Amino acid sequence: MNKTIIVSNRLPLQIKIENDQLEVTPSVGGLATGLKSVHNDGKSLWIGWSGLTEEELSEARSKEVKKLVTAAKCDSVSLTQDDLENFYYGFSNRTLWPLFHYFMEYTEFDNDYWESYKAVNQKFADKVLEHLEDGDTVWVHDYQLLLLPKLIKEKMPNTTIGFFLHIPYPSYEIFRTFPWREELLHGMLGADLIGFHTYDYERHFLSSVKRILRLEVNFNEVTYHDRIVKVDSFPMGIDYDKFHDSASKHKTDKKSELQQRLDDHIQSGSDAKMILSIDRMDYTKGIPNRIRAFEYFLNKYPEYKEKVRLIMLAVPSRSNVPQYQKLKRDTDELVGRINGQFSTVSWTPIWYFYRSMPFENLIDLYTSSHVAMITPVRDGMNLVAKEYVATRTEQDGVLILSEMAGASKEMNESMLINPNNFEHIADTIKYALEMPLEEQKSRMKILQKRLKRYTVEKWAEEFMKSLHATKHLGAVIVAN
Ligand code: ADP
Ligand code: G6P
Repeated sequence: MNKTIIVSNRLPLQIKIENDQLEVTPSVGGLATGLKSVHNDGKSLWIGWSGLTEEELSEARSKEVKKLVTAAKCDSVSLTQDDLENFYYGFSNRTLWPLFHYFMEYTEFDNDYWESYKAVNQKFADKVLEHLEDGDTVWVHDYQLLLLPKLIKEKMPNTTIGFFLHIPYPSYEIFRTFPWREELLHGMLGADLIGFHTYDYERHFLSSVKRILRLEVNFNEVTYHDRIVKVDSFPMGIDYDKFHDSASKHKTDKKSELQQRLDDHIQSGSDAKMILSIDRMDYTKGIPNRIRAFEYFLNKYPEYKEKVRLIMLAVPSRSNVPQYQKLKRDTDELVGRINGQFSTVSWTPIWYFYRSMPFENLIDLYTSSHVAMITPVRDGMNLVAKEYVATRTEQDGVLILSEMAGASKEMNESMLINPNNFEHIADTIKYALEMPLEEQKSRMKILQKRLKRYTVEKWAEEFMKSLHATKHLGAVIVAN
């Protein structure tokens, strides 16, 4: 039977060695959490990196890892410590990630990183080819594997290949600065369908294709050699029922310790409110901006002192990259300064957690917060904003969302802000805290309806439908 091969750098499970034992945790991040439900339901094989390098794997351990990975319907690509340094921390996260998020000043163009990126993309291609059979479909994901579609297409030209980018695609003016711009575009064009979260990213990509490769673009189709490559936008959704049902069930379950603490907080003041933020600790997420905007709010509206608390959950991410280390230091310092300045005996304005949390605790946080404040300076989509909305079973609560997040394009009923405008954010926080219940409900209702309709399953289904329809496009060009 034909299968779909999903390929991404990270597998949905991450394996680490703790106290000489293998420890398995679910991967964090939009790609893994989103695709997991698609993979669990469907007939697919998922290829990616297990989280351990060759140097960490003895022969016995390799076997153990293989067992764990196979049980999850996956296969792993083996990466060395050197690949990790140059391909993952290097080209993926010091070159492509900052460039595609408009952080030009963080972007490093390094030839060794590039060589490693090419070599690791080839390793992924070899692994895919090991499993690929006639009639299979391949779905490649994200910026770590931009060269992979071409590498597969060259070897198996009849394979239907889809590619989806989970981060923003930058404007031509940014992309043109990239030294290996032609190679990257050719790599992506190995796919039959290229998907983005928003129409703007799609537009930027087509503009680069036209201006850099001088290819013919007809509406959203690129004529490429003897093929037509289709480009389209598919905004990724969430597993709505999973979040909504967990939130409903959660009300009746025994309370977790975290939930007990959150409840105590709410009961400690008759109108005490909680504002929540959850992100990976990443400079694109606007964490310092958010803290400064909250400080601005406390100074502008001092009547809110002791009446409101910001709960910030930041998950450690890519901590070998210097900019992430600096962000962590800056965040610690800012939180410390603000708590030092404003705290009273009975009140700390910011509760800050720097760790990953189990799913139940995420639900605790989502359901206990009156306001979610998601303020990225640039974000491909942002699923946290959608997850917050899905958990509001009573349709109360307010979402404050940056207009720089891809999700803002579908969430007009949230309170949209520019993450650099502290004055406006402060006023929006006040408005959110005072919003009449009726208005909260009318906004939530529309947001929920949309999210319930366009779930992650639907997203995958639409992408696959569109991908399979591209077979017909190939036939047209041959006939002409
Ligand atoms: P990104 O993909 O850039 O990390 P998203 O907001 O799209 O951003 O996705 C983040 C995903 O990671 C969400 O599905 C969220 O539930 C999950 N997540 C975020 N923080 C945590 C945490 N502390 N513990 C566990 N999962 C988390
Ligand atoms: C974002 C990216 C994913 C990545 C995730 C976590 O969601 O789009 O490709 O997997 O962040 O980052 P990490 O570097 O830990 O894989």
